[in-house]
Amino acid sequence: MQKVIAIDGPSASGKGTIAARVAHALGWDYLDSGALYRLTALHAQNQQVAWQDEQAVADLAAHLPVAFSGSQILLAGNDVSQSIRSEQIGMGASAIAALPLVRQALLQRQRDFLGERGLVADGRDMGSVVFPQAALKIFLTATPQIRAERRAKQLNIATQSPEFERILADIMARDENDRRRSVAPLRQLPDARLLDTTHLTIEQAVQQVLDWFQSLCSSD
Ligand code: CDP
Ligand code: CDP
Repeated sequence: MQKVIAIDGPSASGKGTIAARVAHALGWDYLDSGALYRLTALHAQNQQVAWQDEQAVADLAAHLPVAFSGSQILLAGNDVSQSIRSEQIGMGASAIAALPLVRQALLQRQRDFLGERGLVADGRDMGSVVFPQAALKIFLTATPQIRAERRAKQLNIATQSPEFERILADIMARDENDRRRSVAPLRQLPDARLLDTTHLTIEQAVQQVLDWFQSLCSSD
């Protein structure tokens, strides 16, 4: 068993928020693996490398000039913490994430986040590929409508607007892309616990993860 809690699931299900809070509660480190895919997509765009060019994107991914400094993410020295969160870069991340050489190039970098303390990692393949020996695996989800509402709220967009319909369509398109791909597709593993946050607050979801983890520890 690895001292890892792996949280996978579709876009805007609350993975990042919940994973970061669980990590904080346990005093563990936190890995936002999606950020690495987003950074690679942005880096390729900046270098005018097409997202379809598998070898060239994999080469960029292998040598990402990235630095994590508190909540700031620096790419080639520039703060890109906000710009990597756009849906345009999300789509790019999803496109390059379907390329096996790119996933391979990012694999060890993700594993290197696991140190002495323990790690809460979120993404799409944390439990299946990156940390298959994780102590606890969770598939976090919520209905597409609720996920789109949460994303809209983050972006200050009203739910009765054309922009909202766009967010909902984008989320569903990206999930479909992530489910359909042949490498590390988005799916619930047989050994992952399902956590549907549609009707849960962030605090309730965090508590559920901590309760599951405590019960695993006490049964050891
Ligand atoms: O990382 P992921 O894309 O899965 O989601 P996130 O960015 O952590 O969460 C998307 C938004 O949903 C954030 O603003 C969270 O605060 C919110 N959220 C919520 O309102 N209730 C939950 N149970 C989980 C997340
Ligand atoms: O926050 P949200 O859930 O919308 O996305 P993210 O976790 O930042 O991931 C962006 C994209 O990167 C996803 O749509 C996936 O295609 C890809 N990704 C992946 O393939 N494997 C991971 N472990 C994490 C992200």
